[in-house]
Amino acid sequence: MSVNVSEFGSLNDGRIIHKYTIQNKNNVSASVITYGATLTEIWAPDKNGVFKDILVGFDDIEGFIERTDYQGVIVGPYANRIGNSTFTIDGTQYNLVANENKITCLHSNGEFNTAVWNAEIVDDSCVAFSYMSPDGLNGFPGNLKVCVKYSLNDENELKLEYSAVSDKKTVINLTNHAYFNLGGYDSGTILNHRITINANKYTPVDDFSIPTGETADVENTPFDLRNETKIGELIDADCDQLNFTGGYDHNFCINGYDGSVIKAAEVTDPESGRTLEVLTDLPGVQFYAGNFLKGVIGKSGVPMVKRSGFCLETQFYPDTPNHKNFPQCTFNAGETFNSTTIFRFSAK
Ligand code: GLA
Repeated sequence: MSVNVSEFGSLNDGRIIHKYTIQNKNNVSASVITYGATLTEIWAPDKNGVFKDILVGFDDIEGFIERTDYQGVIVGPYANRIGNSTFTIDGTQYNLVANENKITCLHSNGEFNTAVWNAEIVDDSCVAFSYMSPDGLNGFPGNLKVCVKYSLNDENELKLEYSAVSDKKTVINLTNHAYFNLGGYDSGTILNHRITINANKYTPVDDFSIPTGETADVENTPFDLRNETKIGELIDADCDQLNFTGGYDHNFCINGYDGSVIKAAEVTDPESGRTLEVLTDLPGVQFYAGNFLKGVIGKSGVPMVKRSGFCLETQFYPDTPNHKNFPQCTFNAGETFNSTTIFRFSAK
């Protein structure tokens, strides 16, 4: 195990962005930069032991600032969407910045992912990133102290441990928005990858991608991914849900949610054999198939074409503050939010 620190780049105001790379005894490694606490690289072996970087992203800070579609970042204080950019806590209405269609609030108007985080090496397998979100920014109440610990073990598990505490009652929903391509970031689309999502239900959306409030059965729909399914198989099926979003971009309700860390999903690339398992203690996972990627230049000058990466964003359901029937994510002042997500890598 080791942690290595290097300079990644600098912002226009002169602040230096550092990169922390954790490597285990199998030579698997994960790199995170202080801009957005962003995962920039994951090197993992295929079934023949050939290593590739399986994260779609950028190799320069300009990419993350100017061309980003949330590649690898930590999203918060509220990941995903809030309908009409508003919610109410104890009778007080909070109005957020409507950064999408001038109607919905997506990914908190990009707050956490554009912040420069403090980094601290915890030990030779773990780096902790912390940030203080000021009261009222983008409309969210409370000064929110947040920490994300990234650690890697010799079982090739990359663990993300989130904690956050506010001085006002508020909503908290944190995720990582990594785009994976298990064939390597330069290997085309993920349509041939096989996915399994441990969910009998998902949350259908309206044409603004806001949940209708219903939790619907996946049975007999393209959202039935309970058995290994080729991502490309039904992604363009002609149904309202997929037409609204242009392909998979939906929250799945993880079976057996009880607050302990359980398996939510697994994806395999049949060519390389590389496999990703996602485990979490949160109730939902957004499966986003990279439908909006449209050719911006990424690592080594390789364009990110439509669906060249997929995201599995562990989360509370989108728009939870406006749906009392969803598992709730409102926390009292001084009450700590804690959550763990694990990305486990193997090859078969
Ligand atoms: C999330 C959303 C998508 C899209 C991406 C960023 O995953 O669910 O609809 O906005 O972020 O492009």
